[in-house]
Amino acid sequence: MGLQQKGMHGTWASRWTFIMAATGSAVGLGNMWKFPYVAGNNGGGAFVLAYLACILLIGVPVMMAEVTIGRRGRQSPINSVRELVAESGANSAWRNLGWLGVLAGMLIISFYAVIAGWALDYIFAMASGELRGANGDAASAVFGNLLADPIRLIGWQTFFMILCVGVVVGGVKKGLGIAVEILMPLLFVMLFVLLGFSIFRGNFQAGWDFLFSFNLDALTGRGLLEAMGQAFFTLSIGMGAIMAYGAYMPQNANIGKTILTVAFFDSMVAIISGLVIFPIVFATPGLEPSAGPGLMFISLPVAFGSMPGGLLIGSAFFVLVTIAAWSSAISLLEPAVAWLIEAKNMTRVQANLLIAGGTWVLGLGSVFSFNIWSEATVAGFTFFDFLDFLTSNVMLPLSGLLIAIFVGYVMKEQFVDDEMQGTPPVVMQLWRFTLRYIAPIAISAVFVMGIYDKFFS
Ligand code: PHE
Repeated sequence: MGLQQKGMHGTWASRWTFIMAATGSAVGLGNMWKFPYVAGNNGGGAFVLAYLACILLIGVPVMMAEVTIGRRGRQSPINSVRELVAESGANSAWRNLGWLGVLAGMLIISFYAVIAGWALDYIFAMASGELRGANGDAASAVFGNLLADPIRLIGWQTFFMILCVGVVVGGVKKGLGIAVEILMPLLFVMLFVLLGFSIFRGNFQAGWDFLFSFNLDALTGRGLLEAMGQAFFTLSIGMGAIMAYGAYMPQNANIGKTILTVAFFDSMVAIISGLVIFPIVFATPGLEPSAGPGLMFISLPVAFGSMPGGLLIGSAFFVLVTIAAWSSAISLLEPAVAWLIEAKNMTRVQANLLIAGGTWVLGLGSVFSFNIWSEATVAGFTFFDFLDFLTSNVMLPLSGLLIAIFVGYVMKEQFVDDEMQGTPPVVMQLWRFTLRYIAPIAISAVFVMGIYDKFFS
């Protein structure tokens, strides 16, 4: 890999485009679909507090480290890591860090496209009127019918992958850059409209209390691990996406400030999504906050179906979810696509077809987890549950741990300082301290506790 290949994919038009792109990557199904139901499963308040703590104490510093690697390497994650390993004279085993991230990204996109497909289906299910006046049972039946139909699921999964490829073949400036600059502001506007709806039509007080009453007793070791996994997942860290986007970041943009902005937007969307969903859940008889992955797909349609004009708002809500998923999924394709272009001399189109095709096939396993293979479980996991657990709760923490150690100890301090120019010395010290001590200890401790809790207690 020669130096002439550095920066071959281009850079974002401005720091703002990077912020939109990184926010687009971060804000996705993790915020709108997963955060509310995982918080619901873990009893609300205390989980939310642990989640926010993980974002601030571990997520932000690790995300900054990941962007630092990307921007210094200016290539796909695999090659950026490889080059930084050489530059600092580190052991070549560190190269695996790049591969780990890209592999996690491929696994995630395989099931991500399936869930995004549910949202696509619901744009039309809501608009069709079949959910008008539906109660909890009727809405569960509609959702159950969707899950039971592999052909329909595959159709939507395929459509979603085509949407993603459509953007990623356009490249950094014309594809990804333009897409996020349109999609992100649209998403924020729609989210606030829905929040207004929830404030006026839902039980806002109950939803608020559920999210913010911090009852620490409710939090288990497993819950803590899920909070940390969720923090990694939602910030898109540990899987090369943010590293790849960092490689396209203009040289003069300040990494610390930029990443704080992104983390702020991301947490805000998660909390607001909770404040959209829970007040509606609490205002609707028969709905439980702990409904699991179906929370958004069962509770919201019941609520929307019973309100005047609700079907239209409901349909708009699922457009919003689709947009959020779309701008995230493109960042999952990009790292592997960029690598194939660099290392295998493929064109952008060829690379996209190969990666999208491969992950599409893998995604079939997740599709079947909800129907013909739903009984095929190992240790209680379906194929989908297994991928979800393996990526969020094992691969991402591991990758985050390694990123912290790599930037904290392995990279020469001078190189890190070069990328962080303009950062006040106190912030630098605090950040290094976190990468060297807090993040590795916290990630390891939470990981061990969570795994023990899940499998041995
Ligand atoms: N952060 C995205 C979400 O919360 C998921 C994602 C993970 C996107 C990894 C890109 C990379 O939905």
